[in-house]
Amino acid sequence: MAKEVIRVGILGLGTVGSGTVQTLQENKKDIEQKIGARLEIKKIAVAHPDKKRPVPLEPGWITGDVNEVMDDPEIDIVAELIGGVEPARSYIDRALDSGKHIVTANKELLAKGGHELLTKAATHRLDFYFEGSVAGGIPIVQAMKIGLAANHIERVVGIVNGTTNYILTQMAQEGKDFAEALAEAQAKGYAEADPTNDVEGYDAAYKIAILASIAFMSRVDPEDIHAEGIARITAGDIRYARELGYAIKLLAIGRQENGSIQARVHPALLPFAHPLASVNDVFNAVFVRGSSVGEVMFFGRGAGALPTGSAVAADILEVARNIRFGSAGRIACTCFENKSVIPMDTIETKYYIRMKVSDKPKVLATIAGVFGEFGVSVESVVQKAVPTGESAEIVWVTHQALEKNVREALEVIARLPVVAEVSNWIRVEE
Ligand code: HSE
Repeated sequence: MAKEVIRVGILGLGTVGSGTVQTLQENKKDIEQKIGARLEIKKIAVAHPDKKRPVPLEPGWITGDVNEVMDDPEIDIVAELIGGVEPARSYIDRALDSGKHIVTANKELLAKGGHELLTKAATHRLDFYFEGSVAGGIPIVQAMKIGLAANHIERVVGIVNGTTNYILTQMAQEGKDFAEALAEAQAKGYAEADPTNDVEGYDAAYKIAILASIAFMSRVDPEDIHAEGIARITAGDIRYARELGYAIKLLAIGRQENGSIQARVHPALLPFAHPLASVNDVFNAVFVRGSSVGEVMFFGRGAGALPTGSAVAADILEVARNIRFGSAGRIACTCFENKSVIPMDTIETKYYIRMKVSDKPKVLATIAGVFGEFGVSVESVVQKAVPTGESAEIVWVTHQALEKNVREALEVIARLPVVAEVSNWIRVEE
């Protein structure tokens, strides 16, 4: 007989947990109709049971003892909303051993150990859903696992970190420098006191590791992902980029070509006409190209209590449906293949390069000559005089070039007596 009541245990009641509880409670009637059964939160295990919470809680829900979730045979689904690798991994492992289905929003754990956990869940014929781990409220995981499952995915490119997108938007729209925009993001609660994970690109690297693994059906280890942040982008770079017809965005890029994978996170110049170029503030967007569907783009809020709560609550609903209809454990890990992630030196793209040089005859020709020696062809060059005398700032945009060649050419150029500094170089994505 189909189950009449499905019970959920939640681990953690921070931002995501609160948004999940609020979503489940506010839309309880609709959700239960969709499941065809009652859905009850049975216990919420937290580190500080006496802390005031931003959501209404029913008596008896909160416990300081995680075992009250783990050891309760009535709990069917465990929603792990603690974050970080440990103790989350051990709790999930234990919950799977006791036959509980898992929902999580834990990007770091998924990126580092998702394959093993998903495989274990499938072996036990249990569900393991993780929509909230990537791009908050945007249902990109289910879209790729189900809606686009019949495609060969060629590319998945996203703006998947709201904090850095907010900072870059402030720099572009208000002319602020990085430090000022970061301080404002912190004051507004978008950036954490220690912003390293966001601004250095690690958060985005976990997310593209998850998306690329699904898209390309091969495990992508976050350690193989080149992650570069936005701290070295200046308001000047953004102005030059704009003059050239580009926005600067922190992109998480996954591509597959000839059986190998590119997975990288770095700031990039994007033509204004590209749909990702107009994704601003804290919004996220993911652009996918599939063999049959062509191009699709998903846009929405990538963080925050209710958007992420929307994703987690939808996963809980889906697992509950599967329990009710006896169809749990259908969608296992799809990393059937073993494709390698290619090193950055072997990628080919266009480059924006800004440098300070002496404003003298033959300087441009000398530098262009070095680019030429390394097989780097120049597409355009802009020179601006610097008011303080005999130096100039030059911005080059190259044609498609091998990253290794560009890097080596810049090492030589930086040592030329006429070059004061190579100030920045940023990849250009068309
Ligand atoms: N810190 C992330 C962001 C949200 O700024 O997008 C959580 O993944």
